[in-house]
Amino acid sequence: MAIGTTITQHILSQQRENPEATGAFTLLMHELIVAAKVISKEVNKAGLADILGATGETNIQDENVQKLDVYANRIIIERMQHIGQLCCMGSEEVADLIDIPAKFPKGNYILLFDPLDGSSNIDVNISIGTIFGIYRKKSDETDINFLLNEVLQPGYEQVAAGYFLYGSSTMMVYTTGKGVHGFTLYPSVGEFLLSHENIRIPERGKTYSVNESNYQYWDDNTKALVDYYKTKDKKTGRSFTSRYVGSLVADFHRNLLKGGIFLYPADNKDPKKPTGKLRLMVEANPLAMVVEQAGGYASDGKGPILKIQPKDLHQRVPLFIGSKEDVKIAERFLRGERE
Ligand code: AHG
Ligand code: MN
Ligand code: MN
Repeated sequence: MAIGTTITQHILSQQRENPEATGAFTLLMHELIVAAKVISKEVNKAGLADILGATGETNIQDENVQKLDVYANRIIIERMQHIGQLCCMGSEEVADLIDIPAKFPKGNYILLFDPLDGSSNIDVNISIGTIFGIYRKKSDETDINFLLNEVLQPGYEQVAAGYFLYGSSTMMVYTTGKGVHGFTLYPSVGEFLLSHENIRIPERGKTYSVNESNYQYWDDNTKALVDYYKTKDKKTGRSFTSRYVGSLVADFHRNLLKGGIFLYPADNKDPKKPTGKLRLMVEANPLAMVVEQAGGYASDGKGPILKIQPKDLHQRVPLFIGSKEDVKIAERFLRGERE
């Protein structure tokens, strides 16, 4: 049986086009994929914990039962730290940069990730995911105490980005700046196979995805934008429909394939999070690179996400992402213009 293109084949062929490629990146991606397969397996049995008797202090392997997002975080760190290609990592689950233990060699890549996105959906069998962005270190610095400046690069500096989606099937969607490609995990073979080559997001869509319970906390321009989605567009006659599950990866993925906009605007719900909820480095930037490579656009409401100079590893940002024309319309509303 011919099984088509595997993810490793695909990464290798893209790397061969780059004369400077050393194989380091291919190795890095390969190991990340192994981590995602392990997480996928664990996600698939999340609902079985009670049946298998793993709800106590320890599970059947005598390991402490951990929350799945903590588990995913650990798996990625453990799998990635030994490969010799990373100088450090940054995770949504860890306050500081993650150093590479002294017993392992270091490399020049930086891996930033959200180990499990959509954690409120873990217990209810709704799709969740892992998001990643990869950068290259620009200086010779290797001391973790001085690496933060290397990590705080704008999103357009990413050399690769993507996500794993643990849904009705497990998928990997990634870009190295040469288009966006989707792979589906073929469980019996244990490989990701090319299923969505060169994904292009429609110029405009019909779907808007937002947590509308925040309406009361939005400014007038944001309210006007969401009001606009609920009325027929005067120019084009199109009506919108709404889809929101509360896992960014799942909401984003649907809109990437079908067109539409996902938004998590700034709100005044929590004075500690005046710029919205989502994180620039581990959520917005990777998906912004993916969407731009697919012909879409990601904005903080004022301009491109990918041009923001980060100041903090865990900085939050308003996010408007999806079909290019729809995100441009959102920017116009936020400037006070109306359609
Ligand atoms: P995480 O599970 O990594 O903390 O991210 C949750 C995020 C994102 O996945 C989703 O889009 C958003 O939170 C949903 O937030 P609300 O529940 O406020 O809608
Ligand atoms: Mn997340
Ligand atoms: Mn998370």
